[in-house]
Amino acid sequence: EKGTYPHFMLKEIDEQPFVIRKIIQEYKNENDEIKLDLDIRQAMKNCDRIYIIAAGTSYHAGLLGKQFIEKLANIPVEVHVASEFSYNMPLLSEKPLFLFISQSGETADSRSVLVQIKELGHPALTLTNVPGSTLSREANYTMHLHAGPEIAVASTKAYTAQMAVLAILAVDTARAKGLELEFDPMQELGIAANAMEALTDQKEELEELAREYLPTTRNCFFIGRSVDHYVGLEGSLKLKEISYIQAEGFAGGELKHGTIALIEDGTPVIALATQENVNYSIRGNVQEVEARGANSLIISMKGLDKEGDAFVIPHVHHLLTPLVSVIPLQLISYYAALHRDCDVDKPRNLAKSVTVE
Ligand code: M6R
Repeated sequence: EKGTYPHFMLKEIDEQPFVIRKIIQEYKNENDEIKLDLDIRQAMKNCDRIYIIAAGTSYHAGLLGKQFIEKLANIPVEVHVASEFSYNMPLLSEKPLFLFISQSGETADSRSVLVQIKELGHPALTLTNVPGSTLSREANYTMHLHAGPEIAVASTKAYTAQMAVLAILAVDTARAKGLELEFDPMQELGIAANAMEALTDQKEELEELAREYLPTTRNCFFIGRSVDHYVGLEGSLKLKEISYIQAEGFAGGELKHGTIALIEDGTPVIALATQENVNYSIRGNVQEVEARGANSLIISMKGLDKEGDAFVIPHVHHLLTPLVSVIPLQLISYYAALHRDCDVDKPRNLAKSVTVE
């Protein structure tokens, strides 16, 4: 039920902080330790490489999952678009673990990879919002996203839930392997949830930005470096999916290798600047596009912000900024679609779960 909300998408965007708090509760035991199926812990500990398989927004969450697992748990991770995997199967390691990420648990492209790897006898763990779904039933293990039903075609709360569960999984694995960590996922996720909640109260400001930057444009670029790049990919998917503005996400450093040719007077470029180690470089990229006439909109994080930034998110742990920085992108997309009279919850040509290959 939408309740007082005009669209499911807006309701689901607003639910995100509560979903993160729910995940914290669900994955914590009475001693405040991570609560996880022992078989999953063992499978993570035993593998020598993880292959993440997903599509669309879930693939974007997988890109972040790679960062968490490699940086925290020290296990190499490959992230694959499900539909490409079958005919471009990489050389597998000796002890692979397959990690399927899927809101619906019904994505046919992912399922066909699951069937293929099961035939080879490899173990699979599915992260899904629908525990009884095909990908959940057919995998060896399941982790539940606890996001509640996601109705809007554009995925929002499942994406942030996927990242939160991946962060918890990565930390649990690190601890199981005896690695020392300073990162407390439950505490940091709690801080991120508060930041997310604060942003959902800034809708008017974000609607204004959508009006100012995306009124009649045919295209829009998203740039970012490091994890901001992945959030830019997700922001561009959200925007094109519901507003039909042609949008592309790029690594800040890649622009000058071709795409900058598309920048004209007034082209909107949304830049993310939430990472200290690349703050200087991404701002250099913004100058490059501005010099060619781009209308740049910078979304930065408190502490790294500069005068003229269009929107500043609260300060959160640098690994978790994607959970927070995606919210202004979701809301800008929502308002851009609304301003164009698009059917926000049911965009053309799309289905909520893609059950054909
Ligand atoms: O149910 P899944 O997570 O497997 O779905 C994957 C994609 O089809 C999905 O994320 C799609 O990209 C969304 N509509 C994006 O908002």
